[in-house]
Amino acid sequence: MTDIYPVKPAVAEKAHITEPQYFEMYKRSVEDNEAFWAEQGKRIDWIKPYSKIKDVSFQKDDLHIRWYYDGTLNVCANCVDRHLPEKANDTAIIWEGDDPNVSQHISYQALFDNVCRFANVLKARGIQKGDRVTLYMPMIPEAAYAMLACARIGAIHSVVFGGFSAEALAGRIIDCKSKLVITADFSNRGGKQIPLKQNVDAASAIKGVSDYLESVLVIKNSDTSVAWNDAQDYWYHEILETVDTDCPAVEMDAEDPLFILYTSGSTGKPKGVLHTSGGYIVYASMTHQYVFDYHPGDIYWCTADVGWVTGHSYIVYGPLANGATTLMFEGVPNYPDHSRFWQICDKHKVQTCYTAPTAIRALMREGDEPVKSTSRETLSLLGSVGEPINPEAWHWYYEVVGDSHCPIVDTWWQTETGGILISPLPGATPLKPGSATRPLFGIQLALVDSDGNELQGEADGNLIIKDSWPGQMRTVYGDHQRFIDTYFSAFDGVYTTGDGARRDKDDYYWITGRVDDVLNISGHRMGTAEVESALVAHHDVAEAAVVGYPHDIKGQGIYVFVTLNVGVEASDALEKELVQWVRKEIGPIASPDLIQWAPGLPKTRSGKIMRRILRKIAENDFENLGDTSTLAEPAVVDDLIANRKNR
Ligand code: PRX
Repeated sequence: MTDIYPVKPAVAEKAHITEPQYFEMYKRSVEDNEAFWAEQGKRIDWIKPYSKIKDVSFQKDDLHIRWYYDGTLNVCANCVDRHLPEKANDTAIIWEGDDPNVSQHISYQALFDNVCRFANVLKARGIQKGDRVTLYMPMIPEAAYAMLACARIGAIHSVVFGGFSAEALAGRIIDCKSKLVITADFSNRGGKQIPLKQNVDAASAIKGVSDYLESVLVIKNSDTSVAWNDAQDYWYHEILETVDTDCPAVEMDAEDPLFILYTSGSTGKPKGVLHTSGGYIVYASMTHQYVFDYHPGDIYWCTADVGWVTGHSYIVYGPLANGATTLMFEGVPNYPDHSRFWQICDKHKVQTCYTAPTAIRALMREGDEPVKSTSRETLSLLGSVGEPINPEAWHWYYEVVGDSHCPIVDTWWQTETGGILISPLPGATPLKPGSATRPLFGIQLALVDSDGNELQGEADGNLIIKDSWPGQMRTVYGDHQRFIDTYFSAFDGVYTTGDGARRDKDDYYWITGRVDDVLNISGHRMGTAEVESALVAHHDVAEAAVVGYPHDIKGQGIYVFVTLNVGVEASDALEKELVQWVRKEIGPIASPDLIQWAPGLPKTRSGKIMRRILRKIAENDFENLGDTSTLAEPAVVDDLIANRKNR
């Protein structure tokens, strides 16, 4: 029997949406989809109001997705200007530094002033509407200013997570042909300085980058000096002194691009997920308000990094579009100690804390005391995102962190979806630990078998979505065919999520994980192909195969099978070198957890690596290897089993 946690009357009483309202609104959102979204579009200020709501086809030979497409607006003005003057003195961003003694309250007026000046700095560097700007930033207020400044002048930002390597950064600069990189000298995390500017210097030196990159704008975030290239580098604070405070927001078409965000797929290099302006901001605003049951005055905290989509939609755009107070944290959960998250909740009187299962599991390992030593008395809602939350972690989060009175919203979504698609609503949805529960408004989910037949009732299958929603990605930047191939080709006329899911008797959805070769490491997406191509680029490696395996903290760990070149000796030193190599090629999040030397890999007679078998070996599940009779050399499997690395 699954436990069920009914909606608490006190929560329902103050909620925007109660259970009957959810069912009524959901029904209307599907039956009269355009009317529903026409209404929701009004939450945003349009310069020229839309009269057209939706123009969508999911057919692969006529694929197009447009929302509110004759309207014009400016996303930055919606997140900042329109909250003035009533909220001029209200806090827009609470910034909490890595150092627990450092924090800052930024009012909507201050946000407006900072964003306008930042936008003028961008213009001073020659940035215009439509230009791509890469951000490689710490979690400092300037990251939000920079995103909003781009939106203000119609430039398209591409935020690259500060944990990615110089090589990864270079690939992303080249792919979207960025003219400008915005970075900081250092990022402060857990008392350590991470040399961001140095990584940008290394990226600039990589072949192809200088074809596009003209300047690097550097925010000073430490007292330590950095190398300087007079031809390319500009201190932000120096240009700031020369610019005007006034910067009008540019009128943008609803379908003009807002940002690109790179994410991993099952094949090839990361793809630039493109989101546009009008639909994205309507969707981010609606979901932030309903899922987090946001009310004016609430202090809302999403612990993600702005380098991921969660940071885009639920630190910056959604909350600020709603005139909320959003907390931004520079540091890590375990510095100076394991109470840090909860100390922040107490210090800033946080109502909503939205984090990832991997952080919850890591903190759970430290026991209850670091939580219990804080009061958390203002907390009323908890959220989870990025990977399935296992029931043990759910219960600990609920009982220990939330003192059994805060609902948990387990939110399922993707970089591609722009915002949350499946989640409980605090006042409307009885909770089942481990289930993301029900679809949000306008989201038509279905499960299909491998032939694309729709499954009814209780079922387990591929999760697909039958119709569009305004926050959906519009294309893969520079490669529309890849967009079609990745999301609209496996099954006809629907969006394929790449996830598997189970639907139970109450029509609740349980995400079972990726059905493709994408790993989810600590809630971060990583393509096995990316890690493999990094490994085979090493001169000692002949072949590599990467699979995931269950990991207590990270959810999934990276298990690598490596075949060395003839004459190369396996050694502990080489193992360490390969780990360092992958960190350099991609970044620390892609570090292999376990490396096994493989004299050969199991392949079909046509030479295809049988990952199914490698996955079972990595999972220690030798009983269920399945049919190995089609292997070219069945004996390699015995060797791999005999030499399996222990976790
Ligand atoms: O497999 C699903 C998993 O994360 C994938 C999306 O990763 P990304 O684009 O990096 O976005 C993460 C943040 C939105 C999904 O395909 N995932 C995300 N949320 C959940 C989840 N798996 C289970 N439960 C969730 N709540």
